[in-house]
Amino acid sequence: MVEFEQLIAKIHPGIFIHSVFIEEDQEQDRRASFYGSVNEQVDFAAEQIANITELKNGFDAIGFSQAGQFLRAYVERHNTPPVHNLITFGSQHMGVSDIPACRPWDIMCLAARRAAKSSVYSHWAQTNLVQAQYYRDPDRMDAYLSSNKFLADINNEIPDTHNKTYAKKLAALDNLVLVLFAEDITVVPKESSWFGSYASSDGPLPGEKTIIPMRKQELYIQDTIGLKTLDEKGGVLFKTCDGAHMQLTDDCWKPLVEKFVGGVVYKTPDFRVQV
Ligand SMILES: *[C@@H]1O[C@H](CO)[C@@H](O)[C@H](O)[C@H]1NC(C)=O
Ligand SMILES: *[C@@H]1O[C@H](CO)[C@@H](O)[C@H](O)[C@H]1NC(C)=O
Repeated sequence: MVEFEQLIAKIHPGIFIHSVFIEEDQEQDRRASFYGSVNEQVDFAAEQIANITELKNGFDAIGFSQAGQFLRAYVERHNTPPVHNLITFGSQHMGVSDIPACRPWDIMCLAARRAAKSSVYSHWAQTNLVQAQYYRDPDRMDAYLSSNKFLADINNEIPDTHNKTYAKKLAALDNLVLVLFAEDITVVPKESSWFGSYASSDGPLPGEKTIIPMRKQELYIQDTIGLKTLDEKGGVLFKTCDGAHMQLTDDCWKPLVEKFVGGVVYKTPDFRVQV
């Protein structure tokens, strides 16, 4: 993250950058990416962001992997100060149909994964295991809709509980830039980064895993989260990066950071002086 901040600062000299954290201690912060309540983490991040004077007129946000849907939750539920452009890299906007794989030596990840796989929709998993909180199996939608307290909520999927504020706030973005990694095998299906998901297996082609793309998703068609409104004004952009999950080559991130980050900085006279 520190290295990435320096690279961004090179492109946009004088830019103010803040990396959202859940715990000040780095090891604890890493732990919080596996354990905890996502809703509480989003509230905490919102308070942290609201405390930063440099951001008070709004900012551009970049979310790596699961942080992409967490920042989207910030936009839908809080958005004070407002996000202008939101770029998400390899995020799981329509959830995952399998708990993401771990690197073999990553004990913390492996333990959390094993726990999540054993009873993903249990109350405990849904309030304590981060990855369980965006697990969404199209063949068990009832279990997902009745137990999931994060993704089902920010996607306004639970019948009769749609929060119209979410739609209004998401549609107020300038741009939502959705980056998918072409060789991603960590996110299942990888199209989740573009709001795609598997169709349920009792669909028209049983046995085949068909992808429902964003514009065919119920939440898009009904415009329950403002995605359609945003898309129709040209604010939803689909990008592909080569390589595996979060393989951030220069070709991948640089053009996006050049184009969608730092706009507000450009508009301030101070910045021109620095150039
Ligand atoms: C935000 O600022 C208030 C007042 O200074 C402080 O009490 C609180 O802990 C801060 N919250 C976060 C999440 O940084
Ligand atoms: C909708 O979301 C907003 C923002 O998080 C919240 O303040 C409001 O209470 C929610 N409304 C309902 C009906 O849950």
